[in-house]
Amino acid sequence: AKDLLTLHELTSEQMYELFHMAMDMKQYGTKNVLQGKILGMIFDKASTRTRVSFEAGMIQLGGSALYLNGSDLQLGRGEPIEDTAKVLSSYVDAIMIRTFSHEKVELLAKYASIPVINGLTDDHHPCQALADMMTIYEIMDTFNGVKLTYIGDGNNVCHSLLLAAAKVGLHVVCATPLGHEPSEQIVEEAKGIAVQTGAVIEITNDPIEAVHGAHFIYSDVWASMGQEKEQEARKEVFQGYQVNDALVAHAHPNYYFMHCLPAHREEEVTTSIIDGEHSIVFMQAENRLHIQKALLKALLTEQE
Ligand code: CP
Repeated sequence: AKDLLTLHELTSEQMYELFHMAMDMKQYGTKNVLQGKILGMIFDKASTRTRVSFEAGMIQLGGSALYLNGSDLQLGRGEPIEDTAKVLSSYVDAIMIRTFSHEKVELLAKYASIPVINGLTDDHHPCQALADMMTIYEIMDTFNGVKLTYIGDGNNVCHSLLLAAAKVGLHVVCATPLGHEPSEQIVEEAKGIAVQTGAVIEITNDPIEAVHGAHFIYSDVWASMGQEKEQEARKEVFQGYQVNDALVAHAHPNYYFMHCLPAHREEEVTTSIIDGEHSIVFMQAENRLHIQKALLKALLTEQE
């Protein structure tokens, strides 16, 4: 595929190829395979990991990256996304975009003649899920018989985790409060893929049952970017969904704790867990760099 907008664009085989390429790059370093290439990075939302890992990744591969604040572009004053896509296609070699509406990214990709990478929309966060799967694969060397429990909001991170897990054959249980389940459409899509791969996809409202025997426990913020006004109300609703010492007692004794970051300590996870010996959150963050370098190499060198 030309773009990475969701994990639907990647086959299971392509995902494994990316994991192996990224692990090789992590172990042995990289060559200047993207010399002279430019990545345009549009941000309508804040970012630390996505922005810096994409920019550093391009530099390490011999290319460069342009940070384009959405509100500084004419896009922010109403220039159509279709025109922006065509103009940027004549200046840069690929576009990474972080924005609110997933449809905006789909339009950008439709009208751009160059690869478009989704750096997070309200519905999907595919680069994060790729880094997460790479992290699990690095630790376990397989997805067979591995159980990951996601605790919290059925948000964009959860959606991409479900699709990624379905593709690689992971067992995922997602526990959310009533009314905060992931999109029914995405759950059905993930279950449809799971039939082919042997993955197991389960959705529940019971965090204790969900975490039973889990090798990986994943949590994310209770209020995503754009939901800041709901933050206080959500604290009430999500109270029973905190990853804490009592909850992890039900997991596998050698469980790993995952979080895409940024984290709110003492909200979705206690300090004892995120800063404790089971936490691999900084390995996940580091792997954003490696998997995205593999992705950039695959998307930008396949075009030639
Ligand atoms: N996990 C993640 O996407 O981090 P940033 O919001 O800092 O990019």
